Amino acid sequence: MNQETRCGIEGISVAIPKHFIDLGTLAKATGIDPEKFYKGLGGRRMAVVTPLEDPVTLAAEAARTLLDRYRVDPAGVGMVIVGSESGVDAAKPIAAYVHGMLKLAPQCRTFDTQHACYGATAALQMARNWTLRHQGECRKAVVIATDIARYDVGSAGEPTQGAGAVAMLIGTEPEVLTIDSAPDAVYTEDVMDFWRPHYQSTAMVDGKYSLECYLRALEHTYRTYQRTSGLSWDDYRRLLFHVPFPKMAYKAFKLLHELEADRHNGDFPSFEDSYDRLSEPALWANREVGNIYSGSLYLSLAGLLESEGAELESARLGFFSYGSGCCAEFFSGRIGPDSGIWRGRTGISEALEDRVELDYEQYIELRTKTDAMSRNGSFRERVRTNGEHFWFCGVDDHRRIYASASSSAAAKPLATAPSIVAGSPVAVQSPAMQRFS
Ligand code: HMG
Repeated sequence: MNQETRCGIEGISVAIPKHFIDLGTLAKATGIDPEKFYKGLGGRRMAVVTPLEDPVTLAAEAARTLLDRYRVDPAGVGMVIVGSESGVDAAKPIAAYVHGMLKLAPQCRTFDTQHACYGATAALQMARNWTLRHQGECRKAVVIATDIARYDVGSAGEPTQGAGAVAMLIGTEPEVLTIDSAPDAVYTEDVMDFWRPHYQSTAMVDGKYSLECYLRALEHTYRTYQRTSGLSWDDYRRLLFHVPFPKMAYKAFKLLHELEADRHNGDFPSFEDSYDRLSEPALWANREVGNIYSGSLYLSLAGLLESEGAELESARLGFFSYGSGCCAEFFSGRIGPDSGIWRGRTGISEALEDRVELDYEQYIELRTKTDAMSRNGSFRERVRTNGEHFWFCGVDDHRRIYASASSSAAAKPLATAPSIVAGSPVAVQSPAMQRFS
């Protein structure tokens, strides 16, 4: 690996919607054994948006918390890239809305990147290269992954929905994660495993085939990275994967373990022990939120920092990013020496604490209302905001309108949304190990 300037993630922050549905509730309402979703897919709950939340408000919320918590001077932000497959406009990028909502300086480059769930990794690599080129100018890049995962009601994909955003500060003082300088290990193949035509609000998917495409891309990129980076299995303290549903990360780990066990002629640590040590600890937040597409891999990273803190000191992590269609990449990075300070700083724990649980009827009602509004070129929702959060208020003459948060208020613990549905906050379970059968 090349020894060049350190560069990578200086700060990370997560925003998730204020409501969720338990997968058991969804299963029972649709006549399915809840164990299929809990054990078969490995999920537990999934975040659900109200009509007042969209990919822009989630992105702005995550980025605002990032800038406040890490005391970033807005004038020092030279680039904002949003990785998303849930764009709200075919021309105006989410990054431009976020730039305005955060009142960033005009001399800042803004754009979105799209390649299904790979979009944010493309953004991260681009921001990293830009930062390396601009060393010494004290300018930072902000990369935001934001998405709302939606499938048809009653479809096999429905229990793998979710929503959320992860914002990352990219610079040359990467206290969270220094990205290793190694040759690219990427893989592209033109496949129809998952797609969403412009006229559809939900994704289409060839479910079983998408699993095959994901695993094929993993094998290619992992083999390439092992060959070109000089790193091997023993160098990784944790292995993180794109998580469309937690059981997929288990399948991904199983494949890599088999490849390594073959290479070592079977003289290799057992699968269960290796999995529990290397990959399971990174999945607890994904289990609570569901698939957030471009942000899923980075939600795992934030969850790991929250739950493990100091145990990750200077640890090397391996990352597999996959976007349907498909493009994938394997890369690695090293956690900073003070990893203990990240516990409680990513925003996940407090966001999960105040969530409101939906029953099945409320979940369907929210979906229907969100769909109806997004089809309407002119509507106005009366939002009474206390200035703590960003809300989507409607469309006026085809222009989207947002209620903004003030900088200092947004850094406070998250409160619940304006009353869209009834319900009371539900406590989140502490990160727990889950075994797949
Ligand atoms: P399905 O029809 O529910 O599949 O679809 P299934 O019937 O095979 O059941 C799933 C698992 O539950 C199986 O376990 C069953 O045995 C088990 P496995 O064989 O896989 O180990 N099961 C049970 N377990 C316990 N108790 C029970 C029980 N019954 C069954 N009673 C599928 C599953 C994932 C295909 C579906 O949910 C889907 O289409 N999801 C969306 C697509 C997806 O997530 N694909 C992943 C790879 S592509 C990707 O990651 C990209 C993506 O994020 C998009 C992007 O890039 O933007 C999706």
